[in-house]
Amino acid sequence: MSSPAIEYARKNYPRFMEELKALLRIPSISTLPENDADCRKTAETLAAELKRIGLENSQLMETVGHPLVYADWLHAPGKPTVLLYGHYDVQPVDPIDEWLTPPFEPTERGGNLYARGSADDKGQVMAQVKALESLMTAYGKLPVNVRVLLEGDEEVGGEGIAAYVASKPANLKCDFALISDTELFAPGLPTLCVGLRGMIYTEIEVRGPKSDLHSGMYGGAAPNPFVSLAQILAKLKDEDGHIAIPGFYDDIIPPSPEELAAWKSLPFDEEHYRKTEVGSPKLVGEAGYSVLERTWARPTLDVHGIPGGFTGAGAKTVIPAKALAKVSMRLVPGMTPAKAFAQYKSYVEKIAPAGVDVEVRLIHSGDPCLIPVNNPYIQAATRALHEVWGKDTVFIRSGGSIPIVGDFDRHLGAPSVMMGFGLPDDNIHAPNEKFHIRNFELGIESLIRFLEEAAN
Ligand code: BES
Ligand code: MN
Ligand code: MN
Repeated sequence: MSSPAIEYARKNYPRFMEELKALLRIPSISTLPENDADCRKTAETLAAELKRIGLENSQLMETVGHPLVYADWLHAPGKPTVLLYGHYDVQPVDPIDEWLTPPFEPTERGGNLYARGSADDKGQVMAQVKALESLMTAYGKLPVNVRVLLEGDEEVGGEGIAAYVASKPANLKCDFALISDTELFAPGLPTLCVGLRGMIYTEIEVRGPKSDLHSGMYGGAAPNPFVSLAQILAKLKDEDGHIAIPGFYDDIIPPSPEELAAWKSLPFDEEHYRKTEVGSPKLVGEAGYSVLERTWARPTLDVHGIPGGFTGAGAKTVIPAKALAKVSMRLVPGMTPAKAFAQYKSYVEKIAPAGVDVEVRLIHSGDPCLIPVNNPYIQAATRALHEVWGKDTVFIRSGGSIPIVGDFDRHLGAPSVMMGFGLPDDNIHAPNEKFHIRNFELGIESLIRFLEEAAN
């Protein structure tokens, strides 16, 4: 498979890699205030690059969080308009000791590029940018109208982009969105993601005594917020992984029998997944559902951290004044963040033990999404993927969340094509994140061919 644009890309892969590495050296960790300037620098780098390759109106747009990057090229009359989306922010790097090479010194090893953000999502953003550059340089124009919108707060809920999409839909008018922030189901297997879980991310704060107390003097009489918090957490989910919040499962729309049948024929080896991806002695979760159903089509609840109290070396006998837990729930189609949060909050308040005050806070939320596959853009995508990968595309869902996808549907009326090139073992959010270099290249070729096919 070739075309002038693909020829151009192939000649330029070494330079594309160097440019990706330069982007990866900027530590754009969105959740840490000390990295704010790095986020802005990453945004500026991308805006300059979009301008350099020939896009117009390249600019940063301020939000409550980090700036959005926007650029467009709208000179293909009669052709569809695509909104390309990705995020330039990355997750924190801890535990730093477990990285074999430093997270912001991109390193090639065994056909992979190791760095924080390599797969999630700077490598994929660059694949989109380099597909545009290849088309623009090879033909002097693009086959479709293009808007690019990149955000720097995806990993922290995407509040800024959500406000922009809701308030200025006319500025983003498009026929479909192209999102490269997902993964292939297996190496070499072209994949489109057609469903994501939503989420609510919360904190539970439990307050007991007016200040920290000596646990010998007061233990037995003063309530301990950590014990109360543990009692609350233990009642959120039973031993079978079933969430105990009343009504939580009521509105779920289950996958169709056809979709379930398609999942059964995916090349999934549960034992391999347990051993190499999860690495735990046993898998857990709701009885009666397969792993793919549990991670793609069932809600779940996880505790991320319980900061506070005494956590230093050695021993300190204290009853802490307060305890905190960070708890999130993944939501599936049919569920809404507002209702799920209300149900959860009132349940937590109801099971709160006597002697403590409990506050339940919502940090951020995002809707689940399910994308219809009977549209011409999905068909164009499968044609392009077949040419590049030589195989039929599999349609999968993902258990992860990309909050803005639901908003593209709601406010822009745009279906999303989620064409991403990560791999299940890319260690996103974890130490030693990597991007398979061949997937960067074939990703660029897939995106080039897709944009060409989408014009037909
Ligand atoms: N790219 C991921 C989502 C993803 C992961 C999609 C794996 C497909 C496969 C995204 O960057 C992400 O991590 N999202 C967060 C969103 C949250 C903070 C609102 C997530 O899922 O935890
Ligand atoms: Mn991502
Ligand atoms: Mn992520």
